[in-house]
Amino acid sequence: MRPMRMILVGPPGAGKGTQAARLIETYKIPHISSGDMLRAAVKEGTELGIAADGFMKAGRLVPDDVVIGMILERVAKPDAAKGFMLDGFPRTQPQAQALDDAMTRAGFDLDAVVLLEVPDQLLEERAVGRRTDPVTGKIYHLKYNPPPAEIADRLQHRKDDTIEAVTTRVQKYHSETAPIVPFYMAKGILKRVDGVGDPDEVTKRITSVLNS
Ligand code: AP5
Repeated sequence: MRPMRMILVGPPGAGKGTQAARLIETYKIPHISSGDMLRAAVKEGTELGIAADGFMKAGRLVPDDVVIGMILERVAKPDAAKGFMLDGFPRTQPQAQALDDAMTRAGFDLDAVVLLEVPDQLLEERAVGRRTDPVTGKIYHLKYNPPPAEIADRLQHRKDDTIEAVTTRVQKYHSETAPIVPFYMAKGILKRVDGVGDPDEVTKRITSVLNS
């Protein structure tokens, strides 16, 4: 399979993490999630994590200079040399430009930017009902993808999955992240995918646009 350098874009709760977990099996590339990296930094209490924590809890974006450095360092690691799946980055115009500049310097092109489209009215329910298994990293949903009863006690609910924080995150998506879409459309690599429906069906739609 040829190297694949791709980005998953979409509002909070669109299913980026759910789909990334499936797609990296197919494409054999590392999943680089800015949200997961920031949550790990918060948990470890690093300087970066302490700086990011308040922004994340409130559903606001972490400042560009913090996130850009973190991600450019990660994509420069050897395991990303033959491709990667970025999830949650870029999500502002300066982040998109910084990634573009770094790719140009490295002599690589992005292959695809998959935009998962889900109407706002479904996002709150998806995020508030999400539960994550800290042992396996698997993402569940109390209604749409119920976890097995035997792991119910260890499941975690994200601090930013409150109705208030999700509302702010959706607003930030429209004001800060949606404006990067024309940038990738102009490059001819934007793939719009309907993110509503069974997750297996959504995976099929994504692989179909990536293979076309
Ligand atoms: P991040 O972790 O990136 O969160 P997000 O973009 O808000 O996305 P989510 O993780 O909420 O949703 P998802 O699309 O992955 O959906 P999932 O698959 O889990 O960022 C968190 C925070 O970190 C930001 O708010 C910001 O503060 C900071 N941050 C991160 N990156 C940053 C950056 N680049 N710059 C600045 N700040 C940054 O699915 C959601 C739920 O729906 C699950 O329960 C799942 O089971 C369910 N589900 C999934 N697919 C379906 C389906 N097809 N049908 C029904 N249910 C489904």
